[in-house]
Amino acid sequence: MNILFIGGGNMAAAIIGGLIAKDWPAAAIHAVDVLPEALKRLEQQFGIRTSGDGAAAARNADCIVLAVKPQQLRDVARSLAPAIAGKLVISIAAGIRGIDLARWLGPAARIVRAMPNTPALVSAGITGLHAMPGVSDTQKRDAERILAAVGTTFWVGSERDLDAVTAVSGSGPAYVFYFIEALEQAALELGLPAETARQSALATFAGAVKLALADSADPATLRARVTSKGGTTERAIGLLDQAAVKAAFVRAVRGAAERADELGDELGKD
Ligand SMILES: NC(=O)c1ccc[n+]([C@@H]2O[C@H](COP(=O)([O-])OP(=O)(O)OC[C@H]3O[C@@H](n4cnc5c(N)ncnc54)[C@H](OP(=O)(O)O)[C@@H]3O)[C@@H](O)[C@H]2O)c1
Repeated sequence: MNILFIGGGNMAAAIIGGLIAKDWPAAAIHAVDVLPEALKRLEQQFGIRTSGDGAAAARNADCIVLAVKPQQLRDVARSLAPAIAGKLVISIAAGIRGIDLARWLGPAARIVRAMPNTPALVSAGITGLHAMPGVSDTQKRDAERILAAVGTTFWVGSERDLDAVTAVSGSGPAYVFYFIEALEQAALELGLPAETARQSALATFAGAVKLALADSADPATLRARVTSKGGTTERAIGLLDQAAVKAAFVRAVRGAAERADELGDELGKD
């Protein structure tokens, strides 16, 4: 299967790197970008083919991955329309709905929307996928295989669920960084040296996640195990509850999902 990436930025480079690491032949990967430096970098790093003309390259591709910024997608999709009938088109652009993409690409495009996240850059991503009507089982398997190159994948049954995926795992790394920042700030305020504060915050998050993945107990049980009666953790969690941190966090993620829906409206115009 020949894969064409339209847009050779961060996400495309992560997926291409993942495919090459999984022994996908470099000769079967092609990338198109408007920036000559981006193309040179991809050629040198991965040995893939590159060019500047998306419509020409799309004629020889079996699958096209749209990896440009959402604001750029409408023009890109319209320019590809004549070359993609019946082909699998995977859009990783946040917020652009399948129905709008189908209007720009034409009804014969077979569209899968994918929502990866930035840990894909270190092969630890998680990607939610949604297939629009007309996508065959083989094409679904192909889409899954491509995104699985940078982490875990799962399918959702509706585009609305993709808004939830965007809010949870798409934006999710930022929430984790936010809590890492908070723990680091607390460590500094308690007098630890800067390097130790950073290291402690990062290692604590990495270690806790590793433990949660290795243990079948749910997170609430894991938390209860480190919260002894009258102890330090109990005091801290009590203060978090008093400040309604969990409720505020849930509201924040809901807000992100609402924003994903709004972006769908804004970006899908005309
Ligand atoms: N980063 C994330 O966490 C994340 C997560 C999920 C999904 N996504 C989605 O992934 C997509 C790509 O994100 P990214 O971070 O990889 O963006 P990026 O680094 O900006 O890459 C996009 C590349 O496409 C180029 N481009 C623009 N117009 C083009 C055209 N007409 N033909 C070919 N190439 C063109 C851009 O060039 P210029 O810089 O000159 O415009 C840029 O080099 C976005 O739609 C984003 O929503 C990102």
